[in-house]
Amino acid sequence: MSRITQICETFDRCGTDKGSHHGYSSVYAQVPVDIKTIFEVGIASGGSIASWLELFPDAHIYAIDILAAPFSPHPRITTYHQDIMKFDASRLPHFDLVIDDGSHSVGDVLIAWEKLWPLCDGTYIIEDVISPELVPALAKSIEAIQRPGMWRIEVINTGNKNADDRVIRVQC
Ligand SMILES: C[S@@+](CC[C@H](N)C(=O)[O-])C[C@H]1O[C@@H](n2cnc3c(N)ncnc32)[C@H](O)[C@@H]1O
Repeated sequence: MSRITQICETFDRCGTDKGSHHGYSSVYAQVPVDIKTIFEVGIASGGSIASWLELFPDAHIYAIDILAAPFSPHPRITTYHQDIMKFDASRLPHFDLVIDDGSHSVGDVLIAWEKLWPLCDGTYIIEDVISPELVPALAKSIEAIQRPGMWRIEVINTGNKNADDRVIRVQC
């Protein structure tokens, strides 16, 4: 089974819409399997967290949701029952993968980005992007902070049928 097929099967089985619905499996197939830390905005019923546990077996998963998370304690999961808009990210570790699957509103995505991108040492994925108007704002933010290193911003349309089958991927 290819990594893309494995990821899509896992997403669909675990109940997140990242697989057959949005077509994001090929995007996540490019993330190294051996990453150690993940942060996701948006837990909902926990389908993506269950997927990350299987797909990235060495990773500790941090996730935040404004609603209560449906999880029993797990040694590789840390959840925050808070609003990312008001969240103090200063005590978080750095992350190999950051995913914004929260409210998807442009303003919220940018506030989350300002808090989380300085902590990202690998790939930052913003899901369900209706309009790529976010890209110039992200680029401006990176320039303003002048963090050393090369950052690449891409808009990836997955070709599925929904208006929001699009991610922005930022890589350092
Ligand atoms: C699309 S769902 C997440 C789905 C999950 N990532 C998955 O793939 O299974 C979006 C979630 O973001 C949460 N959310 C929306 N705004 C938020 C905010 N400001 N802070 C934290 N969570 C937020 C919602 O409560 C909702 O549960």
